[in-house]
Parts: sequence; C-alpha cells; structure tokens
Amino acid sequence: MAFNVKKICCIGAGYVGGPTMSVVAQQCPDIEVTLVDMNTARIAAWNAADLNELPIYEPGLAEVVGEARNRNLFFSTEIEKAIQEADMIFISVNTPTKNYGKGKGMAADLKFIELCARQIAEVSTTDKIVVEKSTLPVRTAAALKSILHNTGSAVNFHILSNPEFLAEGTAIQDLLNPDRVLIGGENEDAIQALVAIYARWVPTDRILTTNLWSSELSKLTANAFLAQRVSSINSISELCEKTGANVEEVAKAIGMDSRIGAKFLKASVGFGGSCFQKDILNLVYIARSYNLQEVANYWEQVILMNDHQKHRFADNIIQTLFNTVNGKKIAILGWAFKKDTNDTRESAAIYVADHLLNEMANLSVYDPKVPAEKIYIDLDNLNTRNAAENQSLVTVSADPYEACKDAHAVAILTEWDAFKDYDWAKIKAHMKKPAFIFDGRKLLNRQQIESLGFNYYAIGE
Ligand code: NAD
Ligand code: UGA
Repeated sequence: MAFNVKKICCIGAGYVGGPTMSVVAQQCPDIEVTLVDMNTARIAAWNAADLNELPIYEPGLAEVVGEARNRNLFFSTEIEKAIQEADMIFISVNTPTKNYGKGKGMAADLKFIELCARQIAEVSTTDKIVVEKSTLPVRTAAALKSILHNTGSAVNFHILSNPEFLAEGTAIQDLLNPDRVLIGGENEDAIQALVAIYARWVPTDRILTTNLWSSELSKLTANAFLAQRVSSINSISELCEKTGANVEEVAKAIGMDSRIGAKFLKASVGFGGSCFQKDILNLVYIARSYNLQEVANYWEQVILMNDHQKHRFADNIIQTLFNTVNGKKIAILGWAFKKDTNDTRESAAIYVADHLLNEMANLSVYDPKVPAEKIYIDLDNLNTRNAAENQSLVTVSADPYEACKDAHAVAILTEWDAFKDYDWAKIKAHMKKPAFIFDGRKLLNRQQIESLGFNYYAIGE
C-alpha cells in the first residue's frame, strides 16, 4: 500500500528536530510539518517574532524558518494533537548518556524515546510511519515495535530508522546537500514514502536504504570513525611537540593520500559536542554487553585520548606559567564546542576551565554566542565546586578586549573566525608581561603573534 504523506509531526524541537524539519517544510511546501516539544520556553522561542531570538544559532536557519513558518511549518506544545493528525512521526528527542543505574556513564538513556513511543501508541487512531531520527543503540527499533504493536488497537505502525548526520554550525548546508541520507526499514512502502520526501531535493543516488539494524549501527559507527580521526591526529600532536614535527604539516601530508582524505584531521584541544563521546560510550557499552571486550577497549581509547588532550592542554598552561596559576587571571576565548554554534555541550572549554579553577586561577571568559548564565550552568553542572565559588572565580565579559585586560595568558578554545582579526597588539599592551597565548585551535599566525612579543604555544608545534 503506497503512503501519501500530507502531515508530518516531529517530537523534539532541538538542534536536530528544529533545523531538519525547517528544511523539510521549506522543500515540501505541500506537506504540513508540526514540531512539538514539552519544553514550552523552547517552543515559544521558535515562534519568536524576531528571528534572531530562535533557540538555536545556526547560519542560514533564520532564513529557512522565516520562509516556511506559519505557511506549512508550525511549532507547538500540543503534542497529542500533532501525533493524532500526522501520517508520519519523527522522533528527535535527546538520548543522553545514562546518569543512574545499570549502564550509568555509558549506555544511552532511552526514557525519552520510550515515553514518545508510549504516547504515540496511546493517542493514535490512524496508521502511522514512525521514524527514528534520534541516534539510538542498535536494536532500539525492536523495543519501539514491541510497544507500538501491543496496543490492542487496529492501528498499524511502520518503523523506520533515519539517523541524522548534520554537524552543528553547518546544519542547513548539510541538510540541503547531504553526502547521503540513510533510511533503514522493513516495509518497502513505508521506506519509499520517506525516500519520496527526501527525493524532492536530494539526488536519489544519495538516498541509501538498508535494514533497520544496519541503519542504527551505521550512525554510531560514523560518529566513532569521525571522533577516532580527531583523537588519532591529537595523539600525533603530542608527539609533534616532542620531536619538532608540525602537526599541520603531518596532517596535510597524510591527508593528500586519497585513501586517508584531508577532512577531520585538525588537531585541537579535544573534541566536544553532545554526540561523539555519548555515541562512542554507547558503542562501547553495546560491545561489552555482547562480551566483545577487545572491540569495546578499542573504541574506548578514542575517549581516553580525548580526555588526555584536554588535561594536557590545561597542564601545559599551568607549567608554562611558572607552575602556578593561583590568583592569576587567564582569559578564555571561546566556550562553544566549535565555531558558529551557541551549543556548549561537552565543550573542551568546560573541562580546561575546570582544571584551571582547581588550581585557583581567575578566569575571564568571552564567547560571541554563549550567554553568561550558560557558562555558569556548565561549570556548576560538573559539581566540582559550589555555584558561589564558580561565581567568585569566573567572570564573563561581553567584550574580548575587556576579557584579556590584565590577563597573564589567553587560551583560545573555540575557533571563532573573528578571533583572528582582533587587534592583538592592543590586547598585548593591556596584558601582564610576559604575555602568553595558548592556542587550542591553531587559529593565529605564529609569526605575526610572536613578532608582537607574545609567547605563543599552539597544539602540535
Ligand atoms: P536536544 O536536547 O537539543 O533536543 C531534544 C528535544 O526533545 C528537547 O527540546 C526536549 O525538550 C525534547 N523532548 C524530550 N523528550 C520529549 C518528549 N517525550 N516529548 C516532547 N519533547 C521531548 O537534542 P538534539 O541535539 O536535537 O539531539 C536529538 C537526537 O539527535 C539525539 O539522539 C542526538 O544524538 C541526535 N543527533 C544530534 C545531532 C546534533 O548535532 N545535535 C546530530 C545528529 C544526531
Ligand atoms: C558530529 C558529526 O560531524 C555529525 O556528522 C553528526 O551528525 C553529529 O556529530 C552528531 O551525531 O551529533 P558535530 O558534533 O555537530 O557533528 O560537529 P563536528 O564538526 O563533528 O565537531 C565535533 C567536535 O570535533 C568539535 O569540538 C570540533 O571542534 C572537533 N573537531 C572536528 C576537531 O577537533 N578536529 C577536526 O578535524 C574536526
């Protein structure tokens, strides 16, 4: 039976649901797309009259929302109504690492997914295609099936896996021009219904269909491979610092081998973001649950290397500043986990800052897109010290020059393009001497910075 999808509902209006559904609505003006979320403040922000106040900063997003919103794109808290009316339901809720019970610190917490499945089962009166958009452990669809197929009603549910590969900061471009779209499923008509939606703007040879389990596992594997490349080059960055090799030159030399490729070889203070660590931990947990210890240990090393990179960056600051940062002001430029996003989840900056605060440094933070309250929440959530202590040791500046004034050192932790164009001579003039820069993103030009009289340290040089 061919499906005619006229109405789509997406549960979860976050970093994935928001941009993805905005692009679907923009590309399919004849399909009504409703994004629902239980977070009323988030939905209100998606409906903000001023498009600069959307809850997510992502280049190009405001334009897409501006085009489709209230035409065929709607943001609502009426979850049951949207489920009832939809032909196709995307589940795009968060799947964080479990912080309690069995699998604590490793497994994905699927409570939000299960709540969605139960709600869909409870309120649906017509047949639905249910699409897993969230990143899920392999075989989650079996649990969804079990919940949806045991409702006792005559409603039919078809489950598809359609993991999302967008990266933050380039989400709109990634969605408009994806390397591939992956759709896993069992019912060919349901698969084709989703293929037909993407085919409006994605060439069909880039729409790949697989079985459910391959699709679920491919998403975890893709993130594990990407993160592994970053940890691999970061491991070499430490060796470069000892041997006189330059990690950028090494990355270029190996990246020109078409079998290796040039992307994801940028040495850094460590990868962050909501997914790399979470998804690898999940992969490790799944491997251990099948008693595949070698597989688990292999992938776990990617995380251990990443933790090491963050620690050694912070340790290097302490050592270089004559083995103490107690009472010294250190300016942190960049708090987001990468440029062009306001997302700070698992950002390396949080952990570097925490390490320096343990040594009683005074931090002054500037990020062009992250508000002060978010920075304090990120530190408070670590529970390393109480909120009052974080407030007294950390100031947040709205101006980068103010953040660097009287600082002993500047640490660059996010690769915001604007940092390159700062008046570094002016910054140095107002810093304590000797003035240090610790560049965790290899953003600045060594020659130019050293000619101004800075002591310049960059990862992998
Ligand atoms: P997010 O936290 O930004 O958004 C999830 C939203 O779901 C939240 O707004 C939350 O309120 C809502 N929600 C949770 N349970 C709900 C329920 N029962 N009913 C209604 N709303 C509910 O998360 P995200 O970054 O968008 O990630 C979502 C999923 O996509 C995760 O599985 C993640 O691994 C995956 N993913 C994320 C990215 C990314 O770049 N952030 C990329 C690819 C895949
Ligand atoms: C990543 C993947 O790239 C997406 O394909 C995937 O959909 C997404 O995770 C997800 O599942 O959430 P994202 O985390 O948004 O996307 O951003 P990336 O560009 O992958 O960067 C992740 C982290 O690695 C950042 O902290 C970045 O600074 C760091 N990184 C990246 C490096 O340090 N070096 C590099 O060469 C590349």
